[in-house]
Amino acid sequence: MRLTIKEIFELPPDGRSVSVKGWVRTKRDTKTAVFLEVNDGSRMGNIQCVFDEAAAIASAPELLRVGTGASVCVEGNLIPSPASGQRLEVKAASLSVIGEAPAESYPLQKKAHSMEFLREIAHLRPRTNTFGAVARVRNRMAFAVHQFFQERGFAYVHTPIITTSDAEGAGEMFQVTTLDLAKIAKSGGPVDYSKDFFGKAASLTVSGQLNVETYCEALSRVYTFGPTFRAENSNTTRHLSEFWMIEPEVAFNDINDNMDLAEDFLKALAGVALSDCAEDLAFFDMRIQNGLIDMLGKMIAAPFARMTYTDAVKELGKTPDAFEFKPYWGCDLQSEHEKFLTEKVIHGPLIVTDYPKEIKSFYMKLNDDGKTVRAMDVLVPRFGEIIGGSEREERLDFIERRIDELGLKKETYSWYLDLRRFGTTPHAGFGLGFERLILYVTGMANIRDVIPFPRAPKLADF
Ligand code: 4AD
Ligand code: MG
Repeated sequence: MRLTIKEIFELPPDGRSVSVKGWVRTKRDTKTAVFLEVNDGSRMGNIQCVFDEAAAIASAPELLRVGTGASVCVEGNLIPSPASGQRLEVKAASLSVIGEAPAESYPLQKKAHSMEFLREIAHLRPRTNTFGAVARVRNRMAFAVHQFFQERGFAYVHTPIITTSDAEGAGEMFQVTTLDLAKIAKSGGPVDYSKDFFGKAASLTVSGQLNVETYCEALSRVYTFGPTFRAENSNTTRHLSEFWMIEPEVAFNDINDNMDLAEDFLKALAGVALSDCAEDLAFFDMRIQNGLIDMLGKMIAAPFARMTYTDAVKELGKTPDAFEFKPYWGCDLQSEHEKFLTEKVIHGPLIVTDYPKEIKSFYMKLNDDGKTVRAMDVLVPRFGEIIGGSEREERLDFIERRIDELGLKKETYSWYLDLRRFGTTPHAGFGLGFERLILYVTGMANIRDVIPFPRAPKLADF
């Protein structure tokens, strides 16, 4: 395999011959030389290929065909660079153009493009500095997720994408069917799901939690990491219709163990980003969010603040005029509340616990007060909730009562209730939205820019 530009940068600039393949970012002509900046996405920085007068004359026909975006192969020698800010460059001997990118039609030119424009060319945006960096950080974070859990004895469980139960009980599911909807509509008849592919109504999963709990109650420490789907009509910079979620679940853990695990996990991921994605983070710090690196370092160094929901509402109640939506006990915390708590009160991450049972899912353990559940949300400055989790209700009679109260169908959860019937244990887990993590460590503003091909209401192009 040829060397990537990243690998070439690890070599000594001792005049050895190298062959550089990649896409041209810029071409610059001077009286005595032609400079090509070539990038192959293996790292943020380009490699500079310098054609002196003789080489430029020899390669003139090819140089004429080269512009921003063209793919090329440059052969030459690796030498120390006289230019400041780069250790080495290629003294080019020859050039071949592999694929031209005509300047009249290639959408990515040298100037800075808006995020909105780049979203319209999602298939080409990975060739920009920003989206190349996001892709590399995302990749490293995915690997770090597995490393974190594998090093701690967690088993990776593949939970299903197609499901017949609603894990969050919130009814925000995309239906999966092979029924001929047009025909059913024409006949005006009721839909007979027994004739559907799975013999009953099925959907795309909103969470792997219920399934992963079954393996937790057998293997003790487990996690799932997969795509999840939500048909909520949320057009925000924090919501996607298809996103990736990491869900660990640990037998015998309580809510405090769960908070410790969530905190250790976020800190470990930020640590890997700082150490292994330094070049990309330096770019984000300079261009996207000033102070990002400092913020991540501080987050790792200090313990996360913890506060009950009741105290959080009291805190918000001190400045009701700061909010569009006035906070009261029992309300779901709005993103403006979460931002206020983390940015104005705590100045860092905050774990809020013990929410009213009415605003949380049926599987959360009821506290002795009968009103709140052992939920824990990890909130961060800028966008609020990054992790949601809880200690689970392991008492059969309690969870059955809750399912009844909410009008959910007990039959669809019968296998889940078996975990409470046979050898039940306390256990706890949480979900980290992978794209929210990427927002956090890159400083990017919109969740649609940290997943390669975003899906959101009215948006499923590419
Ligand atoms: O708080 P949520 O809904 O919790 C669950 O799904 C639980 N089953 C997790 C568990 O305990 N195993 O979602 C968890 C996280 C949120 O904190 C958020 O980071 C992310 O998933 N998330 C979304 N990310 C992008 N787009 C959306 N529409 C999201 N909804 C949730
Ligand atoms: Mg949540």
